[in-house]
Amino acid sequence: MFTVGIVTSSDKGFVGEREDKSGELIAQIVEGKGYKVEKKIIVPDEEDIIMKELIYMADVLKVDLILTTGGTGFSTRDVTPEATIKVCDKMANGIAEAIRSYSLSITSRAMLSRAVSGIRYKTLIINLPGSPKAVKEALDYILDSVHHGLEILTDKAHDCARK
Ligand code: MTE
Repeated sequence: MFTVGIVTSSDKGFVGEREDKSGELIAQIVEGKGYKVEKKIIVPDEEDIIMKELIYMADVLKVDLILTTGGTGFSTRDVTPEATIKVCDKMANGIAEAIRSYSLSITSRAMLSRAVSGIRYKTLIINLPGSPKAVKEALDYILDSVHHGLEILTDKAHDCARK
């Protein structure tokens, strides 16, 4: 069973002005796929705080997968991709590209997400946009392939049984 950390970046969510529907939805979706959620947290849109949480989940909790939601857009406060890039050893651009590509078939506004994905040692980190709608659309599309990626990242699979 793979373990997951969920980070919601939201100034309003952090001070309780907005309900964190997306973090909760991510938990429901991944639990439905058999993942175990180790920690779910709301942080403000502050680069150093987001970085600290990503590092804690990856290095201390050693979760296999971190899913972030929010902070990927064009607002001056949106810094989730920058925090993610700074903590990753390698980028896994294909996942962010796949999310944007699929999402563009649903809404042209998908081009406004600057989300990235990457790897910190043995933890895969994937940014998702902030809305519950975008979260569901993205996860429905990527989770099967992400599962295979996690098997390789955690040495549970060594080659690809190609579909
Ligand atoms: N991706 C999908 N699949 N569905 C969506 O509705 N909304 C877009 C985009 N990506 C959307 C999406 C919009 S409107 C914005 S502004 C950006 O994600 C950034 O969102 P964020 O700032 O909440 O991260």
